[in-house]
Amino acid sequence: MSAYLIKGVSPLGAAPTDLLIRDGVVAEAGSGLSAAGATVVDADGLVALPGLVDLHTHLREPGREDAETVESGSRAAALGGYTAVCAMANTSPVADTAGVVEQVWRLGREAGLVDVQPVGAVTVGLAGERLAELGAMADSAARVRIFSDDGHCVADPRLMRRALEYVKAFDGIIAQHAEEPRLTEGAQMHEGEVSTRLGLTGWPAVAEEAIIARDVLLAEHVGSRLHVCHVSTAGSVEVLRHAKARGVRVTAEVTPHHLLLTDVRAETYDPVYKVNPPLRTDGDVAALRAALADGVIDVIATDHAPHAVEDKECEWAYARPGMLGLETALSIALEVLGPRWDLIAERMSRTPARIAGLESHGVDPAPGAPANLTLVDPAARRVVEPGELASLSRNTPYAGMTLPGRVVATFLRGEATVLDGKAVR
Ligand code: DOR
Ligand code: ZN
Repeated sequence: MSAYLIKGVSPLGAAPTDLLIRDGVVAEAGSGLSAAGATVVDADGLVALPGLVDLHTHLREPGREDAETVESGSRAAALGGYTAVCAMANTSPVADTAGVVEQVWRLGREAGLVDVQPVGAVTVGLAGERLAELGAMADSAARVRIFSDDGHCVADPRLMRRALEYVKAFDGIIAQHAEEPRLTEGAQMHEGEVSTRLGLTGWPAVAEEAIIARDVLLAEHVGSRLHVCHVSTAGSVEVLRHAKARGVRVTAEVTPHHLLLTDVRAETYDPVYKVNPPLRTDGDVAALRAALADGVIDVIATDHAPHAVEDKECEWAYARPGMLGLETALSIALEVLGPRWDLIAERMSRTPARIAGLESHGVDPAPGAPANLTLVDPAARRVVEPGELASLSRNTPYAGMTLPGRVVATFLRGEATVLDGKAVR
């Protein structure tokens, strides 16, 4: 095992110190540390954060290894400061059996760049008709605790109830992609003034809010845990605020793109801005930011959705929805929240780790902590160049934008996965 002596780093923005990483843990902290044989990392001006944890990543393997693999997505994650990601189930074949979730889990271990925690499908083939083998996935080597049909909504209320009841036995979570399918037939973007002007079929905010309202009531009725994926509207925030005040066991995530971008981007007709749920309005963005700060929204999750060129560089109506996120999420968080390191650690590491039950993640870098951490240069600014991303896909909505912050190093169980801003493998 390697040892690293990190010199002059600021843990969560606090006073600079040295950190010795050895045997997979933060072994010592203090000024003027020395350690024979350790690789010295000059961290003057850098901030140390607990390694980021993403509750919502699409890795595309098995099935679309041209768009992303477990390995390429793991590398993108490490470069983004992540040490763990939850891999969504809408692969091909769908991750709806113990066999597929074990395959993804094993590929993650082999890549060894982040911990890949598979999410299992709620229904067979994401078809919304029959429950998948939730118990078998939970008992598998992948130890699945989060189930989601993401990309699709579990629209049938009886099936949703059964799923919530089933996972309660092992304190599992149903993560819902909240989209009432009858209200979004043919939808291309947010329903509002811009969609009317462009003549594109709209996805109304109520299609999201109606499902969240239903599901928080179901979760309350069953006493089970619900997680709401990619919350995108001000109305959803109000439903969640109400549910949390009632003590419903619900958590929620927001994506970087819903915190920064709005539906006016669709005026370009560039499908890089097509995503589900769609980019909303300035008012929604303001409500999401406020909810992230006050805790009604628990976490930032990327919804990293790589797509091959032919699925994105085509007419808007034919393009697949989704955007890259892993390699830019921390920069967007800094742009939106500023250098509020404790809040960033809470929303991007501690809370997602707790929700996913990943005990060795989301622990602040201090003596005794597992050495899952990332070092960030808050003063750096960088121009996003799609060609320089580690993802196999290029569909970033931030191309050409100058963003704050740069991940300099990431450590997984005491081994560097990123050094000098570059992946070690
Ligand atoms: O934009 C999206 N892309 N939203 C989803 O829910 C699924 C995802 C994907 O898999 O591409
Ligand atoms: Zn989704």
